[in-house]
Amino acid sequence: MVMSDDMMDAIEKENVVFLSTCSGDIPNVVPIGFARPLNDETILLVDNYMKKTRENLEKNPKAAIVLRDSLKCPYQFKGRVEIFESGEYFEDAVDWAKSVMTKLSPKAAVLFKVEEIYFIQPGPEAGKKVD
Ligand SMILES: Cc1cc2nc3c(=O)[nH]c(=O)nc-3n(C[C@H](O)[C@H](O)[C@H](O)COP(=O)(O)O)c2cc1C
Repeated sequence: MVMSDDMMDAIEKENVVFLSTCSGDIPNVVPIGFARPLNDETILLVDNYMKKTRENLEKNPKAAIVLRDSLKCPYQFKGRVEIFESGEYFEDAVDWAKSVMTKLSPKAAVLFKVEEIYFIQPGPEAGKKVD
């Protein structure tokens, strides 16, 4: 599923997104500051401090994201992640995190591949899938 330019722009500019994961019967949601689109299907997230999130993703790579400012970007992104602890994506994540906060020592680059997008704007379209 492809994100629009407006969606990518909103993610790029947003300070915090909320990342939801689940591997059993207890859902988990966390704010993530290091989130930015790499292309129209992929969002890079940086694992600096993930615990339950990471445990969940190791067992079940499916996740969902909404932006903190959901009025500006009223969409729910669903997809699955791939985790990289070395290589190009990991190096990118480390460079990015350290350029913002030198003390950070990222554990992994978490690549979120967008598979489905849903409208969440209150109104008749809420909950419907974006085609
Ligand atoms: C504003 C804010 C931004 C955050 N950004 C990140 C981030 O970019 N990467 C990260 O790994 N943790 C980040 N955290 C920490 C996570 O939200 C969370 O504390 C961590 O994943 C542990 O929770 P968990 O056990 O549910 O995974 C941030 C926390 C806050 C409050």
